[in-house]
Amino acid sequence: MPDGQNTHGQNTNGRDGARSTTEDDITAAVLARFAATPEPRLKQIMLALIKHLHAFVKEVELTEAEWFQAIEILTEAGKMCSDKRQEFILFSDTLGVSMVVDLLGHRKPEGATESTVFGPFHRLGSPDLPPGGNIAHRDTVGVPTLVSGRVLDLDGKPIVGALLDVWQTQSNGLYDSQDEHPDELHMRGKFRTDAEGRYLIRTVRPVNYPIPSDGPVGAMLKATGRHPMRPAHIHFVVMADGYEPVTTHIFDRTDPYLESDAVFAVKESLICDFVRHEAPTAEAARLGIAGPMFTANFDFVLKPTGVAARIDVLDAQRRLAALGARA
Ligand SMILES: [Fe+2]
Repeated sequence: MPDGQNTHGQNTNGRDGARSTTEDDITAAVLARFAATPEPRLKQIMLALIKHLHAFVKEVELTEAEWFQAIEILTEAGKMCSDKRQEFILFSDTLGVSMVVDLLGHRKPEGATESTVFGPFHRLGSPDLPPGGNIAHRDTVGVPTLVSGRVLDLDGKPIVGALLDVWQTQSNGLYDSQDEHPDELHMRGKFRTDAEGRYLIRTVRPVNYPIPSDGPVGAMLKATGRHPMRPAHIHFVVMADGYEPVTTHIFDRTDPYLESDAVFAVKESLICDFVRHEAPTAEAARLGIAGPMFTANFDFVLKPTGVAARIDVLDAQRRLAALGARA
């Protein structure tokens, strides 16, 4: 459409006084163009986005070549997204934005389990497994590990029937969706707490692994002297009726990447001891596990809430699935 007309062909130049000619008045002109946004939250977000985006471009004095390079990077990121890959979440994670959103959105009361990034590798439809069920049935390399603990309320009372949705990489450092049979679910399961609030998960010891680094995120990490590694962890979403669900990980205390997680997701309270046993524990023997093996114990503490937060988490998972993030 011609300059100075909106989509209805109306002249807009006079109405908002927006004939901008200098680097000093362009930002005000653009802000004015968004001033009539009817929805208050959208208006707040758009005005702040314009203000900070313009300030950033002016601060670094972005050149046309750099602007075009940014367009190329975003285009490449979009092309890499598929039903097995979500490059924009990787950008968000590696720029620390995911963790800022997490920190703002989950200010927990003292004692509740802290959240951390959801990441791009959750999948809907993982199997319901009994206590002690093995999520690593195809992994013949990893060291058998039993992860156990309780799900509690803030008063330390057990929560019966809480749901733990668990996912983890295989011992080769790949999630099932990245491996040779990407349509088969592996290293995933849903577990319920028993009458004492206890859960028991059979898996293999988690390993550290690189986030996918063959795309623009990897290029950014390389160009900025950063490594792509994440410390060994297991993902959880823990939820129960009447409580705010928590999306979190547990991390292996011995991992060398705890201090430099590529996605900034480590919180001290989520670091857990993975204890080695040369002979199987009694519980492991009952499940047919031979030594050596590891055990890890971690209690999750949920904060009471209404139903809204639970809907938010499930909605996020469904929306990621729709994006093709294997959510
Ligand atoms: Fe992960």
